[in-house]
Amino acid sequence: MIAKRLRPFGTTIFTEMSALAASTGALNLGQGFPDTDGPGEIVEAVSAAMRSGANQYAPLGGVPELRAAIAEHQRRRYGLEVDAQDGVQVTFGATEAIAAAMLGLLEPGDAVVVLEPFYDSYAAAVAMAGGERRLVMMRPPGFAVDVDALERAARGARMLLLNSPHNPTGRVLSRSELESIARVCVEHDLIAVTDEVYEHLVFDGEHIPLATLPGMAERTLTISSAGKSFSFTGWKIGWCSGPPRLVGAVRAAKQFLSFAGGTPFQHAVAAALTDAERHVAPLREALRGGRDALCAGLRAAGFGVIVPQGGYFVQADVAPLGICDAGDWCRALPSRAGVVAIPTSAFYDDAEAGRTLVRLAFCKRPPVIDEAVARLSALVATG
Ligand SMILES: Cc1ncc(COP(=O)(O)O)c(C=O)c1O
Repeated sequence: MIAKRLRPFGTTIFTEMSALAASTGALNLGQGFPDTDGPGEIVEAVSAAMRSGANQYAPLGGVPELRAAIAEHQRRRYGLEVDAQDGVQVTFGATEAIAAAMLGLLEPGDAVVVLEPFYDSYAAAVAMAGGERRLVMMRPPGFAVDVDALERAARGARMLLLNSPHNPTGRVLSRSELESIARVCVEHDLIAVTDEVYEHLVFDGEHIPLATLPGMAERTLTISSAGKSFSFTGWKIGWCSGPPRLVGAVRAAKQFLSFAGGTPFQHAVAAALTDAERHVAPLREALRGGRDALCAGLRAAGFGVIVPQGGYFVQADVAPLGICDAGDWCRALPSRAGVVAIPTSAFYDDAEAGRTLVRLAFCKRPPVIDEAVARLSALVATG
């Protein structure tokens, strides 16, 4: 019964792997959610907002306090000026912002340039809007952006959907890559939609929003979310910001997708964002520790390791272990080793790409990471 445009996305590897995690009780390094809550102070702010009566629909754009905090965050952190009224839209996570951007900005048949591998909702969101994705491959181990391929894909396209820090590769795009990307966007008159949900979770290098590059502020819709920054992925408070003509298109779609809710969470995120660095710094350091422990453990066990510069995930290569299909290996992993991991091929359209790569999440407590490493090492040692 599923409509044709959604059929290719029926049951994803994530659903399959989460079910395996649940049925086997395996350690879940598959899905990207932290296993500890974010700061208690922010949790308290939700209760306080509820007690003070913030329990009904929010205004469509989001509660004014959150819109002001988002505009102020963009100004303070990146020097980006956005209008808190018409240049900011609060959404149900970054996921809704992405979907609403596609629905609000694309005409059927419009081409959207996407770097491959890509976060799974992109393909479905483009398809729901009747768009067509044009993929530009990022290859391991460097996952650099192929600017010539990008240039070719941009011809006649309407939009670029960009993600940095990048899931699943952990790449943080460099200034020179972003400059090339910006030049392509300007030359081909593309709208840029940037997914920056890991903006605060950079370990090496610097997060540079595409909107800060010359000629980009007027054509870029910047998306982010509180889930990753503050470790509240279940709250699903996301947003986008940018020029009112782009934000207005998102708002036009969003009002009929979900209208506006999560009111007490919006108030808490407003308070958190006003003092973002104080909350995020310890989380980032804990994540850095998880990254380093997982990378070191995997390397010692014999995996190839591509160290991520940001985000929640590491790429491990099983080729040095003599394994040629990470998909089969991951499907057997929960019962063989009690660990869940995602084959990176799930993030590519091209089935051959990333065939020996595995994505593992390190946004987990140190004992969980240590135990996962011990189990994987034992599996490798016993063949
Ligand atoms: C790159 C990327 N974008 C968007 C999301 C979803 O964000 P949210 O939970 O705010 O909808 C995720 C979550 O894993 C992600 O990795």
